[in-house]
Amino acid sequence: MVKKLLFIIIIVLALFTGLLFPSIYLFVEEKYTFLNSKIPEVTNNLIWKISFICHISFGGLSLIIGWIQFVEKLRKKSSILHRKIGKLYVLSVIISSITAIYIGFFANGGFISAFGFICLGILWFITTIIALISIKNGNIKKHQNFMTYSYACTFAAVTLRLWIPLLNGLLKSPELAYLIVAWLCWVPNIIVAYFINKHRKTIKE
Ligand code: HEM
Repeated sequence: MVKKLLFIIIIVLALFTGLLFPSIYLFVEEKYTFLNSKIPEVTNNLIWKISFICHISFGGLSLIIGWIQFVEKLRKKSSILHRKIGKLYVLSVIISSITAIYIGFFANGGFISAFGFICLGILWFITTIIALISIKNGNIKKHQNFMTYSYACTFAAVTLRLWIPLLNGLLKSPELAYLIVAWLCWVPNIIVAYFINKHRKTIKE
């Protein structure tokens, strides 16, 4: 019951974040968005711009579809659907993580936040690729474990937006909050994923 409720909360937060934050850039003028906090040298750079658009659109997609893969009933009902969504998820993560690593070098807050985002981007990419290779080799348990780590990284987009207002309220310093959140948005998620993996029974496809 508690597990089901937590899973529903995860779905709602994933859909809300995955749909709302990327679409802000379609409907809201640039000066009223996060882009206003960036220096013109960054936002006028075409490679950065393309990377940013790819990052937020495919990041949003991975967040929206990723949770579906953990629904046991759906997985049992149609392994074809699981494979199709899985391929789309992996492709989305590859695009969004590589572009995240690139834009990470230009992150607000300097070295500490940039390093936090770049580490997350690398981990997101690696865990997803290991999960893919594992299933290609028929190792279901490893595939499940690494997809759990992968989605824990994807979910950092949600936890970042939950931590930010909390840290801003506590610290009264948006700059310090941003440095901390670049790490706090994903390290606890990975720890939670570790315990989920440790206590889960392998589900056969
Ligand atoms: C999980 C790995 C992720 C990493 C490493 C990452 C990294 C980054 C970085 C470095 C920035 C720019 C920050 C700055 O310049 O200060 C950014 C912004 C952004 N990212 Fe991600 N991101 C990740 C996941 C996602 C996902 C899954 C989404 C989907 C919603 C997403 C949506 C956005 C949006 C919308 C922005 C612009 C800031 C805003 O409007 O709040 N990111 N990300």
